[in-house]
Amino acid sequence: MEKLDFRRLNKILAMLMDKAASDFPEKSEVSLQWTYMHLFSCSQLIKVYALKQGLSQELAAIAAALHDYGLLCTGIKDNHAETGADLLDDFLDRYNTMYGERRGLVTGEERSIIIHAVRHHSEKEDISDEPYLELLKDVDSLDRYLHGVPTGGAYLKRVQRYI
Ligand SMILES: [Fe+2]
Repeated sequence: MEKLDFRRLNKILAMLMDKAASDFPEKSEVSLQWTYMHLFSCSQLIKVYALKQGLSQELAAIAAALHDYGLLCTGIKDNHAETGADLLDDFLDRYNTMYGERRGLVTGEERSIIIHAVRHHSEKEDISDEPYLELLKDVDSLDRYLHGVPTGGAYLKRVQRYI
């Protein structure tokens, strides 16, 4: 098997870690510990499922790493998917400017897929025909379940499909 290439993802994870360490919202509705746990395990888990479905592991993992960016920035759960999606252009511009040349750019097409998936990832009841979005919703549900978070409704249905 060939060596996997996650140079872009790994730098994006480092940027998120730096942000969480230096700039975590004072009154966040989720803990810093949960933020780290969920961010890292989602971005690892999704690689396995992306591989099985013939999707780009790195693109899926970047979407997973960034999916709760709104929560990381504001600490507010309500509408965090939309908030995050609105903030991601700026984040990805920063990544491309600072690291794109050395580690590879996030292209315009990839950016659209990432931002679309982040914007709609809370819509667990809906089934779309966007593979990266559906994968992200499945893995977000599964990761919470695997961390022992009480899981029901559409989240549980998504977990049961995999287990
Ligand atoms: Fe979320």
